[in-house]
Amino acid sequence: MLKAKKESNYTKGIVPVLITIFLLITGYALYKPLPEGFTISKWDRAVMHVVEPALRVAYYYPSRMFTKPSNMVQWTRGALNTLSKTLGLLVNTHGQVDIKWHKWNETPVKVYRPTNNKTSTDGAVLFIHGGGFALGNVDMYDSLVKRMAYEMKTLFISIEYRLSPETVFPGGILDCEAAIDHFFDFGAVQFGVNTSKVVIMGDSAGGNLATVIAQRRAARNSFPKLAGQVLIYPLLQMADMQTVSYRYFHSRLRGYALVDPESVAYYYMFYAGIDMDEKAYLVPSVISNGHVANHLQSEASEIMSYKSVIEMKHNYKNHSITERWEVSQSYEAQDLMEPFLTNPDFSPLMRKDLSNLPPTMVITCEFDILRDEGLIYGERLKVSGVPTTTIHYENGFHAMLNFHSELDEASKSVDDIEQWTLNAINNA
Ligand SMILES: *[C@@H]1O[C@H](CO)[C@@H](O)[C@H](O)[C@H]1NC(C)=O
Ligand SMILES: *[C@@H]1O[C@H](CO)[C@@H](O)[C@H](O)[C@H]1NC(C)=O
Ligand SMILES: *[C@@H]1O[C@H](CO)[C@@H](O)[C@H](O)[C@H]1NC(C)=O
Repeated sequence: MLKAKKESNYTKGIVPVLITIFLLITGYALYKPLPEGFTISKWDRAVMHVVEPALRVAYYYPSRMFTKPSNMVQWTRGALNTLSKTLGLLVNTHGQVDIKWHKWNETPVKVYRPTNNKTSTDGAVLFIHGGGFALGNVDMYDSLVKRMAYEMKTLFISIEYRLSPETVFPGGILDCEAAIDHFFDFGAVQFGVNTSKVVIMGDSAGGNLATVIAQRRAARNSFPKLAGQVLIYPLLQMADMQTVSYRYFHSRLRGYALVDPESVAYYYMFYAGIDMDEKAYLVPSVISNGHVANHLQSEASEIMSYKSVIEMKHNYKNHSITERWEVSQSYEAQDLMEPFLTNPDFSPLMRKDLSNLPPTMVITCEFDILRDEGLIYGERLKVSGVPTTTIHYENGFHAMLNFHSELDEASKSVDDIEQWTLNAINNA
């Protein structure tokens, strides 16, 4: 007994020393200087020099060890859930918000109502979370949505749509639309909301779903009209995976725990219902654009032709961008992806008629392979006469809003979004 106790005291003394040595060594091994301009304040950069390697260890490295991509998805889901709960500990609760789960036409939704029933607006925001159609959930976005609900004193509805690969395209869209239809039918009675003052908002893949839903409502002339759409670094297309922002990733951002081209290919293909455990070998050809059949090429490049504008405007702090590389054709990938690449419900950037859409805010970030598609969509909306505000965060990165309570840049972006959204609600 005594001996054991002695030993444990001895162990207690040595453990912190070993942990410190271990942390110093791993910290040194994992250290990778962030690119110039990646977040701006000293604080933000310091935080990201901890968060980025932590993300690499938590999911980026392990996810690459799975032979089955579907197991990789499961692992990443778990890792992100755990991480977001850990980060959640640091989060200011941002005041009192009444939070309740509901089920609307079979879709679970979480309703955030600033308390005392006295909201400063009679509008509402429909929030659709990101995560490549396969990751994330409403709880993971709790701190962000709660903050916006509280600060805007506005009702927020966060939609728990089903994820791929279990539920494939267009399941997620239909889940969201089912919940939204219910809200438009009962929101006025149940929550005192004026349903002409409803804004839809989504980030990343949630930005894709928000765009698609707004477009479908516009095309059908659905009533009530949305008061606005907020598209936060949205995924909008996969017909050109060699845009400038994609190529910048290959030359400068490879190996960081940022959204990478391979993952985008995997997640889109899971969403398209392709068995990626069988078809993972198609990914290298897909990221070269080898999945785009010849007969779709001109339709896709017509839309992507705005990229010349982008290439002139943004030079990534003068780092040279590599030239497009050779496309490695895959007829199998072309057959599999044919139904999706120019289908606006899957790739909303490809929708030709953009009239009748509500006022739009498009958020893009410099350090994001999806930057260019966001910029192109913003341009196209403006050309189509849709009142559009585009904000480009020169020092921002994909998914930064998930760190809104840690990073000044992300927090500022939340402020910008809140201000624009309140305006859209009040001007509806
Ligand atoms: C707010 O409304 C709920 C249900 O409509 C009610 O139970 C609650 O007492 C109200 N709270 C206040 C502070 O008025
Ligand atoms: C990039 O290059 C242009 C022209 O060579 C120069 O005017 C500009 O200041 C440079 N920008 C940066 C951030 O270095
Ligand atoms: C709802 O908002 C619209 C647009 O501001 C306004 O015209 C309408 O009167 C409002 N309806 C109610 C019931 O307040």
